[in-house]
Amino acid sequence: MNGPIDKWDMHPKHFWLRGEQPEQKVQYDEEIDMWHVYGYPEVMETLSDTKTFSSAVASRFLPPEQAAVAFDGNLTQVDPPDHRKLRELVGKTFTLKMVAGLEQRIATLTHELLDEIEGDGFDLAEGLAYPLPVIVICDMLGLPREDREQLKEWTDQSLMASTQLTTKAGDGAQEESLDTQAEAAMELGFYLLEAVTDRRRRPREDLFSKLIAAEVDGERLTDRQIVNFGNLLISAGHITTTMLLGNSILCLDAFPDANEQVRKDRSLVPTMLEESLRFLSPLAAGYRVATRDVELGGVTVPEGDVLETWFSAANRDDRVFKDPYTFDPTRNPNPHLAFGRGVHFCLGAPLARLEGRIAMNILFDRYPNLRIDPRETPKFLGSPEFTGVWQLPIRVD
Ligand code: HEM
Repeated sequence: MNGPIDKWDMHPKHFWLRGEQPEQKVQYDEEIDMWHVYGYPEVMETLSDTKTFSSAVASRFLPPEQAAVAFDGNLTQVDPPDHRKLRELVGKTFTLKMVAGLEQRIATLTHELLDEIEGDGFDLAEGLAYPLPVIVICDMLGLPREDREQLKEWTDQSLMASTQLTTKAGDGAQEESLDTQAEAAMELGFYLLEAVTDRRRRPREDLFSKLIAAEVDGERLTDRQIVNFGNLLISAGHITTTMLLGNSILCLDAFPDANEQVRKDRSLVPTMLEESLRFLSPLAAGYRVATRDVELGGVTVPEGDVLETWFSAANRDDRVFKDPYTFDPTRNPNPHLAFGRGVHFCLGAPLARLEGRIAMNILFDRYPNLRIDPRETPKFLGSPEFTGVWQLPIRVD
């Protein structure tokens, strides 16, 4: 049904990628003591009704004092009305105009990265899909590009440690994983704090300096909030865009007709990217906690229970998407939930779309025969929260 995608080693929990539609759209999972939400209207409800479905879930996985410090200023964990002020503060600096102004830099950078690659067979994740978004974020924050290896180490450490979360107490593996992630986040935090302190003394034209100066209703961000926001941008912004690029190549390789169609008509690149986001959604799931007993998808979710909302499964719901297992680069409208929906809609979506459009066009220009190396297998990220590769061996001869 998925064509060659079936042969790839997708996460075993992502059964919808194998063509299976869940009969029950909301299911309790005893093993992790959480509710899975798989259906499109049900996921939409969890994203829209912020009073009933709170985003402040970190304290369900971490000791509350630790969560309060680690996630202060982290938009993803804040509910309205506080969310509005925080989002406006950071939104003042992360504007559409600022993103649109990056177009030429992203194109130059993409060419530079591809120029560095030697030979006709290489790992596209290592050569382009990984470094491109990280360098763009470093440039935006005003961090030296030479530090990107160190940043990669910290973010990889968190990424590799991430596993299926559970709200069950006493899960040793989860405690160890969260400790490793906290350690990496702390080291990254100290590094970012140095940059913020420096910008307070000597403001520049970068995002950190703008975040320091931003003001809404007479309030400004604290150093800790700026550091945590920088941390969020670095972790939320790079690996997801890396996955978008890798997944688009996977889809085009699996559906040669679509590949030919888009190569012939480049005006289809934007809709192809949206279809890639729907078909293989990089951030597969988010979390919410029920603030009251609530009926959802025919079951009652008790107050205080955590829900894992599967954007990736909702994006294949045949009640909303015709032929959801067909990769259609012309699909329009395509109301996928890969960037979430509602107040928490991805702040970086315009940047991810811009990077995707530029990089895909340059890849098409430079490599008429780009394909996945038939002798090798792409390697997928281990955590069920993600759908994406961390190794993508390709051939271009
Ligand atoms: C293809 C790439 C990307 C995907 C698939 C993606 C996906 C998402 C999703 C699903 C959410 C909502 C989570 C929820 O409601 O629980 C989100 C939020 C967010 N994303 Fe992205 N993202 C991408 C790229 C980026 C980039 C490039 C940045 C920044 C540089 C970014 C920054 C953020 C931030 C700050 C939020 C929190 C917004 C809020 O809570 O108000 N993302 N993203």
